[in-house]
Amino acid sequence: MKNILIIGSTGQIGSELAMKLRREYPGGNVVAGYIKGAEPKGELLESGPSHLVDITDAAQIAEAVDKYNVDTIYNLAALLSAVAESKPQLAWKIGLGGLFNTLEVAREKGCAVFTPSSIGSFGPTTPHVKTPQDTIQRPETMYGVTKVSGELLSDYYFHRFGVDTRSVRFPGLISYVAPPGGGTTDYAVDIYYSAVKGEKFKCPLKPGTFMDMMYMPDALRAAVEIMEADPTRLRHRNSFNIASMSFDPEIISAKIKEHVPGFEMEYELDPLRQEIADSWPDSLDDTCAREEWDWKPEFGLEEMTVDMLKNLRVKLGK
Ligand code: SER
Repeated sequence: MKNILIIGSTGQIGSELAMKLRREYPGGNVVAGYIKGAEPKGELLESGPSHLVDITDAAQIAEAVDKYNVDTIYNLAALLSAVAESKPQLAWKIGLGGLFNTLEVAREKGCAVFTPSSIGSFGPTTPHVKTPQDTIQRPETMYGVTKVSGELLSDYYFHRFGVDTRSVRFPGLISYVAPPGGGTTDYAVDIYYSAVKGEKFKCPLKPGTFMDMMYMPDALRAAVEIMEADPTRLRHRNSFNIASMSFDPEIISAKIKEHVPGFEMEYELDPLRQEIADSWPDSLDDTCAREEWDWKPEFGLEEMTVDMLKNLRVKLGK
């Protein structure tokens, strides 16, 4: 990787991935692709090039790839699971139409492509505990439909056209920089904000709702390491299970209480999010990622909680 285009660079993952790639690949261009209304600001704007790239417009992707001689595209454009249920047509247009545009540009111009998949690519008939790498994927959300279709389409472009597509299935991602927008796992970010602000947290999911979660530094490292992996070792491509921790609302709340003794949580259930969460795995088996490209997480719930609280206190001036 040298010249990299990030589509969706101002979102929850993109804003941090762009800065990490600029630090790690100082000799190349890391282009922050953005859409109107979500322009890069501050450090992201000032530390490197940016380019208008609406993923639904293939010509804009091609223009940015040509201008910066891009060899690798990180495609991070998506509507998250809950918001995608209110706009399923748009979710398809961005998730699958956008991926198709990206893969076509990559095929014509010889780029590698990373497109994250998700725990949302699984569904109610998937084995929920230690979900295997290769298993049933029959999601019932539009988000999941776009993710599992995206895995298939990405593998197709690799086998049929030799496009170097690779990806991981992200768990819920927890970070303090940019907020996620409209996902089912967002509660595990929001809970830290409430704890630092001294507010009682209203949890949208019921006790016992287990999902895989991951701290952003591990997720970013996974996104870089999979693209740098030795291709001769990869038996899978789209997309690898990765995991670092699994918890339910009671467990994360108790962990936060260890560090913020006055913290309180009550339940105010969101039926849509609950239904989605119930259809997703409780925990993924990431053996294949460990074996094929040496994936290994660094943050557990304790380390993440300490780091989140420390950084949010600074960010919120608390
Ligand atoms: N974080 C995503 C969501 O909740 C799942 O990948 O929609």
